[in-house]
Amino acid sequence: MKIKLLAALLLITSASAFAQQQAANRPTMVAGFPVNYSEDSVGNYTLPELLKTSDGKPVTTAKQWTEKRRPELLRLAEENQFGKMPPKPKDLAFHAFDKGTPAFNGKAIRKQVTVYFTKDTSDHKMNVLIYLPANAKKPAPLLMNISFAAYNQIIEDNGLRVGEIWNKEGKKVKADKPTPFGKLNVEQFIDAGIGFATVYYGDIEPDFKDGLAYGIRKTYLKAGQNEPAADEWGAIAAWGWGLSRAMDYFETDKQIDSKRVALQGASRLGKTVLWAGIHDPRFKMVIASISGEGGAALARRNYGETIRHISDPSRYLYQFAPNYHGWADKVNAMPIDAHMLVALMAPRPLLLQTGSTDYWSDPKGEFLSAVAAAPVYRLFGETGPAASATMPAAGDTSLLMNHLGYYMHEGGHTVLPEDWKLFISYMTKFL
Ligand code: GCU
Repeated sequence: MKIKLLAALLLITSASAFAQQQAANRPTMVAGFPVNYSEDSVGNYTLPELLKTSDGKPVTTAKQWTEKRRPELLRLAEENQFGKMPPKPKDLAFHAFDKGTPAFNGKAIRKQVTVYFTKDTSDHKMNVLIYLPANAKKPAPLLMNISFAAYNQIIEDNGLRVGEIWNKEGKKVKADKPTPFGKLNVEQFIDAGIGFATVYYGDIEPDFKDGLAYGIRKTYLKAGQNEPAADEWGAIAAWGWGLSRAMDYFETDKQIDSKRVALQGASRLGKTVLWAGIHDPRFKMVIASISGEGGAALARRNYGETIRHISDPSRYLYQFAPNYHGWADKVNAMPIDAHMLVALMAPRPLLLQTGSTDYWSDPKGEFLSAVAAAPVYRLFGETGPAASATMPAAGDTSLLMNHLGYYMHEGGHTVLPEDWKLFISYMTKFL
């Protein structure tokens, strides 16, 4: 009886949490700033020119893009949005504490590797979980996911090390409780001949206001510096930096085809994988889920979240370079916008996944960003949405299978089980 009551209670709390979450995707006032959801009030804007160099020369070839325009935009995105990050640390070290154990009834082999970022191995270490198809005859391609949870919380496998996560009070605790995120079906990737890897983002840098005191960024502060300089990394760049360190490991593992690694993350981690893929061209592909403002959604569109909302000290200031917040009240003067981020991935495959009721993240802003970025993909002879494309309806897959792909599921701020299936089709085609 007691158990039934508990189950019912749990059901009620999770249902109301769900309702709250849905409502939270259309909040009308955030941090004291109104949020617009009406297309009529989006405002007029002109996007900064993609295909013209800073000295005003038109960019008409892939070579000009690669040699001149791309480096300019990369620097602008670094300085104005995510912040500069340090190179590969000299003391980087790997320890595979699980070197290849059969998993999922022998279908896969599992590895668990600790990546040490600093010489002092007591802190600043990231655990990477990797599954590879057991029957692979050659090095396997990989989907590299970055997660809000420790991997033992999202994957059903009793051979997993129990990780540590940051709790709401900013303390590190054992990750031995279930999460609201549900479980991820890893076997579907293995069945498609694709390996799967994942890390917990908090192993790199915690995700809260004063997280700087604990994460990797602190170890790079120079004497006399209490916080990153105006053009230095926020937490998103730090998470992306950690993904590059996972790539450093993949390059040493002969069973992994490090030239065929796709990154995937959702929400703030969708912004993270977009930036990580842009900055580190070793990643062959990016699947950016519901990345929204600060990700693939146009900042100049006043719809849903804006930089103004992100930049409020009570919210996500710490996730970006301090310079970014200077644009909160003058977004039209910002030298970059999201179409440039999207274009910086060209010609590598990039899939933008959004949700039809995820108003806060502005799915249309991501679509328009892809349309504006597609000319750069076309310079390389690769596909993206045409200038005349209309916004696809929820569930319409017609723009999915492009080098620059766009897909909006029916639903909210999440990655649905059927989205993973589409990601597998996308990877099978482009990875
Ligand atoms: C908030 C934030 C978004 C972010 C999201 C998430 O909603 O405003 O920018 O993408 O959290 O990470 O879930």
